[in-house]
Amino acid sequence: MAKIRLTTSLILAALATLCSGESPSARATSDPCAAIAGKKWVAPKDVRACFTSLKVDPDVKANIVEVVNKTLAFHTSVNYELLAPQPFTADVHENLLADLARISHQQYNSDFDLHVDLSRTLKRLDDGHCVYINSCFDSLFLSFLPIPVVLLTENDGTQNVRIAPEAFNVSSVEFADEIQVWQDALPGALKGQLASLSGAKVLSINGATPNVAIDANALITGSFQPLGTRQNSFFSSYQRGASGWNYIMGNFAQQSLPLTDSATLTILRIGQRRPETITLPYRSRIGSTAVPWTDSASFLQNNCVAIDGTNGVNLNDPSNPLRRREDDPVVNPATTFRQQAPVSPADARKHAMNAILDTTPLLDVALPPTLVPGAPVAGSSGVSEFHILADKKTGVLALGSFSDSSFDKFEQTLLTGLQNLKAGGATQLIVDVTNNGGGFICIAHWLHRIIVGPKPTSAPQAGLNTTARAAPLAQLIVKSILSNPKIDPNDNLLYNPINWAFPENNTFFPADFDWLDPAVHKVINGRPDAFSLTLSDGCQPFDMNPPDEALFDPHKVVIVSNGRCASSCSLFSITMAKEEGAKTVVLGGRKGVEQRYCGTVGGQSTDFSTIDTEVKTALLKNSSLAPPDFKTNSVQGITWRLGFGIDDPTQPEEWQDHPADLNLPLTADIVNNPTAIWTEVAKRLLN
Ligand SMILES: *[C@@H]1O[C@H](CO)[C@@H](O)[C@H](O)[C@H]1NC(C)=O
Ligand SMILES: *[C@@H]1O[C@H](CO)[C@@H](O)[C@H](O)[C@H]1NC(C)=O
Ligand SMILES: *[C@@H]1O[C@H](CO)[C@@H](O)[C@H](O)[C@H]1NC(C)=O
Ligand SMILES: *[C@@H]1O[C@H](CO)[C@@H](O)[C@H](O)[C@H]1NC(C)=O
Ligand SMILES: *[C@@H]1O[C@H](CO)[C@@H](O)[C@H](O)[C@H]1NC(C)=O
Repeated sequence: MAKIRLTTSLILAALATLCSGESPSARATSDPCAAIAGKKWVAPKDVRACFTSLKVDPDVKANIVEVVNKTLAFHTSVNYELLAPQPFTADVHENLLADLARISHQQYNSDFDLHVDLSRTLKRLDDGHCVYINSCFDSLFLSFLPIPVVLLTENDGTQNVRIAPEAFNVSSVEFADEIQVWQDALPGALKGQLASLSGAKVLSINGATPNVAIDANALITGSFQPLGTRQNSFFSSYQRGASGWNYIMGNFAQQSLPLTDSATLTILRIGQRRPETITLPYRSRIGSTAVPWTDSASFLQNNCVAIDGTNGVNLNDPSNPLRRREDDPVVNPATTFRQQAPVSPADARKHAMNAILDTTPLLDVALPPTLVPGAPVAGSSGVSEFHILADKKTGVLALGSFSDSSFDKFEQTLLTGLQNLKAGGATQLIVDVTNNGGGFICIAHWLHRIIVGPKPTSAPQAGLNTTARAAPLAQLIVKSILSNPKIDPNDNLLYNPINWAFPENNTFFPADFDWLDPAVHKVINGRPDAFSLTLSDGCQPFDMNPPDEALFDPHKVVIVSNGRCASSCSLFSITMAKEEGAKTVVLGGRKGVEQRYCGTVGGQSTDFSTIDTEVKTALLKNSSLAPPDFKTNSVQGITWRLGFGIDDPTQPEEWQDHPADLNLPLTADIVNNPTAIWTEVAKRLLN
């Protein structure tokens, strides 16, 4: 009997499996992360299915909030960002601490929903230094449309959103292996005719005027305080990259999270009289930071937990293979997300940086060959390219970043290149810093100094005076360094006083100087806060001798960008414009909206992992004020030093205004064409 009953129950079990339609292999494919494993291109909704299948682990959530909250004590701007002064009051008004408290109590259906809330909360600061990234989600897949858009001014002065004239040239090359999917998605006679959409006027996006989509994106894109700059992030643009000219797709055609499935556009193609309506799917391509997985468990393990470099290390612990010395440095994964050229880890450690973080790493989508500037002047290298225009008197420095692989080589490249321009007959200079997200602080001030020569605004200091936040734990780090000579014998720590100088006489602090105590107390937006005494920029003497004479008359220097010039790029542009009288130009932008030549100024930026190294090396990780280690594959960026203003030296430069002298309308014949843009700028402002 027993034997028969057993057999019956086995048969019943087998029947049950058949009736539910589930075989063991079907169960495996119902794992939404297994369903997208190993694929290069997928639908955004399939990525979302994987992301939203991950439930919130309450311990992990509490860990993220605690690390972010305690790291913010080192971010100079928390209380300023509660309510920025005019003209940025309407843009920046985020109560971060209140939002973190809200997030800790809020329930989320998935870990992805939590991530979107936290990421957007930080982005509301519109501060490209203070960004939260979780590589489990951010840009794990990038979602694309093959039709980047631009905002063009027509001959009659009206403005239209248009599919970029070069859209198909870019997409057919970059997405060669996926373009057919979009060709096939076009309706009726348009099927296969994607190329004919280039240049089309966009009458509506998802049933509303394009401005609705542009402004919705400006609310969530972050990174820059000025509204105009955030509006312009919707559109495509260019950048001089470390190894060539890049095409930046813009937020309409490229998204870092798989939140949008398709876009429906009503367009008027070139040469057509009748509007047509098309719907194109976003397609998600696996990102460069993704580590392969096979199912949800390996997805989490390979992409979502802390990796080498997520957290800091005690630099004096010889048993720690990850301790960062100049000869065996650990590269923080955050560097992938900095919008700048790669820096050698040794130089990144030795030279202070000011650079924005972005939830999208820099991509090397190529600017189409027809738009790439012609033969550069000798000496061009990496992110620095030099040209002389057809007028034979305008020199151009296209500078896509203030980072490059080697600091010393970068200094020499800039000097030699500018000298070559002069030798070639250039008497005036355009510096194109479009999409320059910053980098080495002292390269920004070196460039300023060599252009204008030695004068009170460039020597012994060409940069801004700055201050660091005197948070209680930061004060303890300084005290620990001062009280124990074994903590930082090789001067590796940011908080070591010997790295910082008095602005009055540019003399470095004595080794025993407690520079955070006493602190300078301030009340900001009604909240008590505390900062260090004022620091100089710490860049001079440079490790290379600058020339004794100016290379160019600063009144004949024009700085050009799309407004997306941040961090060290802001430090350079602001000092050149406000102190030296250089002119500034912003390309494009909606009529009636003020265009500003830079944003996210800061003074020096860093991240949780670097602060954690300070805390661990100073033997303070056991303090209740210390952020714990991140359990997740996350980065939290901060502004570590904040620059004081030039017009009002008592207040940060960050929220003082930077209006462009000229807002150059983009037209079909110059958009995304650097040489045509430079020629037009020279005509309007220099010749
Ligand atoms: C953040 O830290 C502050 C102390 O600086 C604390 O009062 C607050 O409760 C913390 N917030 C959260 C959400 O943990
Ligand atoms: C795009 O490609 C077409 C066809 O090859 C070419 O005629 C056109 O000049 C290209 N346009 C741009 C902006 O590269
Ligand atoms: C920095 O501070 C010093 C000392 O107060 C002052 O002389 C100098 O003008 C300041 N520099 C700038 C750029 O504000
Ligand atoms: C530089 O200025 C600071 C602040 O005024 C002062 O304490 C220090 O002694 C000065 N150092 C030198 C070498 O003059
Ligand atoms: C932290 O650890 C240090 C030794 O590494 C010890 O001297 C100190 O008392 C500890 N502090 C706390 C708050 O536990």
